[in-house]
Parts: sequence; structure tokens; C-alpha cells
Amino acid sequence: MKFSIIGCGRTGTNLAVYLTKAGFVPAGFFSKTRASALKAQKAVNNAGLIFDTAVQACQNTDILFITTPDDTIENVCSDIASKNGFKNNISVFHLSGALSSEILASAQQSDPKQSDINIGSIHPLQSFTPYEKGQASPFSGINISVEGTEGAVRVGEKIVTALNANSFTLPTNAKMLYHAAAVVASNCLVTIENFAINLLQKADLSEEKAYEILEPLIMGTLNNIKNKGSVNALTGPVARGDSDIVSSHINAIKKDMPEFSLLYKIMGKYTLEIATQRKEISSDQISKLSKLFN
Ligand SMILES: NC(=O)c1ccc[n+]([C@@H]2O[C@H](COP(=O)([O-])OP(=O)(O)OC[C@H]3O[C@@H](n4cnc5c(N)ncnc54)[C@H](OP(=O)(O)O)[C@@H]3O)[C@@H](O)[C@H]2O)c1
Repeated sequence: MKFSIIGCGRTGTNLAVYLTKAGFVPAGFFSKTRASALKAQKAVNNAGLIFDTAVQACQNTDILFITTPDDTIENVCSDIASKNGFKNNISVFHLSGALSSEILASAQQSDPKQSDINIGSIHPLQSFTPYEKGQASPFSGINISVEGTEGAVRVGEKIVTALNANSFTLPTNAKMLYHAAAVVASNCLVTIENFAINLLQKADLSEEKAYEILEPLIMGTLNNIKNKGSVNALTGPVARGDSDIVSSHINAIKKDMPEFSLLYKIMGKYTLEIATQRKEISSDQISKLSKLFN
């Protein structure tokens, strides 16, 4: 299958390299600057063409990837559609995590038969850096979501398999929730560990030492979530219904790190929800803890 890339940055170039290695054929590259398109072409051993317009990138290909920044994808697509640039049977994809395939609707609307153009999104749960020759594949073994029209999901799954990654499908209208989940799991984890490291720094430990002593605890907790599920993995004073300890935490944080006081209480409130589901603490303990967190 032939593919074209519009937007030759980190994701587009990495995608081009590993799809080419997997036997897909680069039709060519278009980017805001010719220099980026040339760089991507060089990364695939000068295969494919350099296009002068986005429309040209759609003309001689089976798959089109629009790997421009999120806030430009819809306009790039509708601009091509307004010039009748999409040919029958093309599959058009973007790789945004937060946005769904619906932002590519203009491609389908430009097709008189409406059904011959596949639109989809494939989102690699990976953080890409600029491609460097000799690097390991950033796609190998990762998880990639696929959603879109039936045809797009079929092609998307083939692409993911070719990249040696694992695919899973999502309903189109769940894309934003899925992305929020990824942000909570990754970015908010950083926020929470930053909070813990700050507390230990207040206790006179260096940042490096703080992480060193926390690391086995963090990894052990992740392992417990994996083996027992997120409800059963909970341990600690809230899970035991120990309101005296929790009250002392709140006082200590209020005194030494008041800026984190609200965060501790909000997280405590949701931790109490989990502890309540386990039915191991009494209603009296729940009510005492609840008062502390409100
Ligand atoms: N980076 C990641 O870790 C990651 C992970 C998963 C998904 N994604 C998704 O991948 C997509 C691309 O992100 P990225 O991080 O690869 O961005 P990036 O490195 O900034 O690359 C975007 C490229 O798009 C080009 N571009 C911008 N506007 C354009 C336009 N109107 N027409 C043609 N080309 C245009 C830029 O071209 P020039 O270089 O020519 O100026 C740039 O090279 C986004 O949807 C993002 O959500 C990224």
C-alpha cells in the first residue's frame, strides 16, 4: 500500500520510516516547509516524492496521514476537500489523541458517493522525539488506539500490526474521554509524585534521594494495580479508616506546605470512595474521614 505524509515532524517522519521498513511504499511528503519534507524523504532512503501542495499528496496514494499539529488538522483536510483533492478509496488518518475522526468529515463530504473515502484516527500511546538514524522503533510493542469508519478501522489495524504494535478500537464519541484517561494516568501521576517529592524535600531529603526511596513503593503499587485491580490495590490510612493519622497529615501539610493542602484533601475524598467500595471500614470511620476531606 502507498502512503503520503502531510506534516513531516516528529510523528510523521517516524511513521514514514517504520511503515517503509514494514513494506508500505512512500508516495511522498508535503510539509509547511520543504526542508522538513526533504528530511523525511531522506529518512526513508530518498523514496517517494516531494509534493508542492497538500492536494498532490492525496493524488497517488492509498493512505494519507495528516500529521500536522492538532489545531491545524481539520483545516488541512477541509482545504484539500474544497479543492476536490480526495480520490475514491483513499483512507485518511490523523494521529491526534484528543480529536476524533470526525474532524476529517470534509474528506467524506467531498466524495459524491460519501462511502468510498475512509476517515480514521490512530493514536500511538508514545512520546515521539525527532527521528534519528539507528534509533530503536518507537512503535514496537506499544498500544495504539484506532477509531473511525469501518474501512478505516480495518486499514488502521493493518497499519498498527505492520508497526509491530498492539491495536485496540474505541467508539468515535469516546475519544476525548480516552485522551483524558491517558493524561490522568501519565501527567497527573507526575503531579502526584512531584507532590510526594516536595514533602520529602521539606523533610530535608534531596530530590534524588526522595525519588530513590519512593521508587520501590511506586513500582510495587503499580504492580498491585496490575495484579489485583485498582480498588484492591489500595492500602494506607484511608483504606484502614484511620482518621487520626489523616487529620495529622492535613495539619502537617497545612503548616509546612499549605499550597498542597487542597490537593491532599481532594485526593483523599476520591481515595475514600475507593475504600468505601471495599466495604472494609465502618460507616463511622467513613463519616469521620469524609468530614476531614470536605
Ligand atoms: N509527538 C508526540 O509524542 C505525539 C504522540 C502521539 C500523537 N501525536 C500527534 O501527532 C501529530 C503531530 O505531532 P508532532 O508532535 O509530530 O508535531 P511536530 O513535530 O510539530 O510536527 C508537525 C509538522 O507539521 C508541519 N505542519 C504544520 N502546519 C502544517 C500545514 N498547515 N501543512 C503542512 N504541514 C504542516 C510542520 O511542518 P514544518 O516542519 O515544515 O514547519 C511540522 O513538521 C499531532 O496530531 C499529535 O497530537 C504526537
